[in-house]
Amino acid sequence: MTASKLGLYRDLAAQLAALLAGETDRLANAANMAALIYHGLTDLDWAGFYFRQGADLVLGPFQGKPACVRIPLGKGVCGIAAARVGTVLVPDVHDFPAHIACDPASRSELVVPLIETGEVSGVLDLDSPVVGRFDEIDQAGCERLVALFVDHHHRDPG
Ligand code: SME
Repeated sequence: MTASKLGLYRDLAAQLAALLAGETDRLANAANMAALIYHGLTDLDWAGFYFRQGADLVLGPFQGKPACVRIPLGKGVCGIAAARVGTVLVPDVHDFPAHIACDPASRSELVVPLIETGEVSGVLDLDSPVVGRFDEIDQAGCERLVALFVDHHHRDPG
């Protein structure tokens, strides 16, 4: 299981690198990345981005049901991850009162901030209907995917 999960994230990283190659448009690349993750991982009901605008995170490209558009920094799992400048993994959102329930079916969540030159420019948010869906391999795997995205646009902003 562990080996196959590591392999899955290696494959996703290779696929993401191929999708990003030669394209600088941030929105287009974020849209493809959300689709890659949503269809590449099992047991997700939402995968996508929020991008920072001042003191808020604003909904970006995603796959899944319509979601809350604006999340203040420090609020919800997304806003907390952005304010902490670090990944937040919530095994059961029912035990995390700050969680914002866009879809009541979601039970676990993983949020990885996009950190560019020390500043949070947004977050990648994954939701699952399964309690305990995400572990440290998912965290490391998604942090690697986010690093690929951020580095790509840092080198070649678009
Ligand atoms: N649950 C998130 C809100 C965003 S949706 O899950 C897509 C949160 O608590 O920040």
